[in-house]
Amino acid sequence: MKRRALLGAGAAALGAAGIGWSLLTPKRPGKLLRSRAPLPEPFAARLVVPPVLTGEEIIQREADLHILPGLTTRAWTYNGSFPGPTVVTRSGRAASLTHRNQLPESVVVHLHGGHTPAGSDGYPIDEIMPEGESPGTTHHDMAAMAGDMTVGRRTYRYPMNQRAATLWYHDHRMGFTGPAVYRGLAGFHLVRDDEEDALPLPRGERELPLMITDRAFEADGSFRYPTGDSAYMNGVLGDVVLVNGLPWPVHEVDPARYRLRLLNASNARRYQLELDPPPPGGNAFLQIGSDGGLLQRPIGHDSLAIAPAERFDVVVDFGRYKPGAQVRLVDRDGGDVMRFDVTGAGRDDDSAVPQELSRTVEPLPPPARVRTFRFNQGPDGTWRINDLEYRPGRALARPRLGEVEHWRFVTDFHHPIHLHLNHFQVVSRNENGLGAYDHGWKDTVDLRASEAVAVAVRFTDYTGTFMLHCHNLEHEDMAMMADFVVEA
Ligand code: C2O
Ligand code: CU
Ligand code: CU
Repeated sequence: MKRRALLGAGAAALGAAGIGWSLLTPKRPGKLLRSRAPLPEPFAARLVVPPVLTGEEIIQREADLHILPGLTTRAWTYNGSFPGPTVVTRSGRAASLTHRNQLPESVVVHLHGGHTPAGSDGYPIDEIMPEGESPGTTHHDMAAMAGDMTVGRRTYRYPMNQRAATLWYHDHRMGFTGPAVYRGLAGFHLVRDDEEDALPLPRGERELPLMITDRAFEADGSFRYPTGDSAYMNGVLGDVVLVNGLPWPVHEVDPARYRLRLLNASNARRYQLELDPPPPGGNAFLQIGSDGGLLQRPIGHDSLAIAPAERFDVVVDFGRYKPGAQVRLVDRDGGDVMRFDVTGAGRDDDSAVPQELSRTVEPLPPPARVRTFRFNQGPDGTWRINDLEYRPGRALARPRLGEVEHWRFVTDFHHPIHLHLNHFQVVSRNENGLGAYDHGWKDTVDLRASEAVAVAVRFTDYTGTFMLHCHNLEHEDMAMMADFVVEA
């Protein structure tokens, strides 16, 4: 019953009336929700870098955050902060993390970009029920859909048999991921390795994880989310951009190179990021990595398209600006994101971006099999893959362990498509070569209206059930997900 949390009874009514959904919802990738609270001036808050997790336990609990001046926002948090603490792990060194649930609702934790055995992947019905709840009273979900539930806590095991990359963790509960992430359940997880450590990239204070989200607020400062309003089924867009949980923050930088690990953790908003003013000579962003870690070679961009869940690891050289310059990071079509104020100090910079970054982006061999997945909308408004709404336990594909497959994604709308378990390589966009943002190892690829994107993936190490889904969280909650089962 509660699965259609966002849409609620609205969709059923429309479906029953037989009204063509496309007549009702213009093909826009989301609808703007306006705040009822007064909004601050941009660049009043100072950027905060999320704390690094110490220990191996995260407590999920409510916390009152100060996001808007003079108001508090009751958030759902990992250890009391939004974003949650940054988890840092080492490639090749197994890690385990225990999550305790002191929230009023069940949760599921997924490590996005993690190469993780099925039992620790955060399958959407493998819920951690709140502490103190008894397992008999599963009032949250239909008993028939009960997954591998635990009460109060769960320990996730991450082998970390994967290369250095910017991962993130977030809630993944079936039907409720959109509101749970919106309330604050998201954090960074950085994997480091020797290959990357050997490069002279900017580090320390000059390496900044930046989580970009958009939100709307109620008059009392609480997050405003349109639960039950079918007008927002294309996706919820907020009118405030938060970076690391604060509105349009400002950060003082030395005139030197910085590594920015950009993550779009918004429910539905895409950004076209640019620097204003652009640096002399262009190529504002030197991309060094993608979702799955370092590129083979750096790629210069004047503008970066980043869809929900994508990561871009870029180096920006603020040494190209005069001390005193104020450099805004903007969304070309949507206004400000944050600002960097270039100071006169700290000119020393021994960092560099080598022409060869990584040797581990080798192309995959030809596929054993090609499959096509169509992302579309059903007459009742639900979002579907190959005409099917998500149902746990129904696999749309059964790839074999160790084999390479090409998966073609086609659509008539906008969908950021995400695969669990393995990173992939884009092999074509619209039967052509790659787009500017398709390079390297990725786990999320932006599919725009009327596009076809093919990716190559090898299913490695773990058998079992994993997910393929749209990462527009409103689409995901409205059933645009599928299981695939890796078989031995
Ligand atoms: Cu970031 Cu299955 O999701
Ligand atoms: Cu994921
Ligand atoms: Cu979608």
